[in-house]
Amino acid sequence: MLSQGEDKAAELARFPIFESLSEDELRQVADLAVPRRYDEGQVIFREGDRSDTCFIVRTGRVRITRTHSGGRSLTLAELAPGEMFGELSMFDGEGRSATVEAVEETTTLALLERDIKRVLRTHPEIAVKMLVRLASRLRAANEKLARQSFQPVAGRVASTLLAQVEARRAEAAAAIGAEDGDDGIQPVEIVIEATQSDIAQLAGSSRESASRFLADLERAGVVTTGRGRVVVHDPAALRRYIF
Ligand code: CMP
Repeated sequence: MLSQGEDKAAELARFPIFESLSEDELRQVADLAVPRRYDEGQVIFREGDRSDTCFIVRTGRVRITRTHSGGRSLTLAELAPGEMFGELSMFDGEGRSATVEAVEETTTLALLERDIKRVLRTHPEIAVKMLVRLASRLRAANEKLARQSFQPVAGRVASTLLAQVEARRAEAAAAIGAEDGDDGIQPVEIVIEATQSDIAQLAGSSRESASRFLADLERAGVVTTGRGRVVVHDPAALRRYIF
């Protein structure tokens, strides 16, 4: 439990965005950060809500989605520990641009807009780090938009699975303190905890189309699908479906 400001400060120091703060400054931010916990599936906020809070993921994972009036949802991104969300409303003063929910039990630190803005004024290097994150999210969004527009369902689902494989590998490498980003694809079995609907939402396809392609992959021995999970046996083979 992180009830003490000291513990929160030590934790904040590990987030890349705050690494330039001194111990004193970290303690000041930590005193303002409110720990929150969400159950699996719990909505943290909804698209259109008005709020002046930003969040940093401490543990677990959150999913950012947009829902069409027809009921279909599109997953824009999933964020892991250390990532910030809720900053767009802070910058543009509009309502929430998307809904955010906990994929699994998740804890966050919540910071109010006025407190973050004060830190940004005295530490412009933090603003630059936030810009770098925004730039890479915009790139990822462009990538997704291009895939959605130009790629058939098979390529989108294969890209989605590959991205999940890479995310699981990065998490595993971080957990054992190993260096990541060295290798590319290795022939190691990876378990993705996601339903076929989750995969379809991430790929921006209907559940039926995603399920049909997953069945093709299963027949080809590339994956095995089970209840709420997909086991990828041959990640490299997924690349053959991506054009
Ligand atoms: P905000 O608009 O306040 O609330 C929803 C949040 O989801 C948003 O801030 C960003 O933090 C995050 N978000 C929205 N769109 C994306 C995206 N395409 N990629 C990653 N994060 C996003």
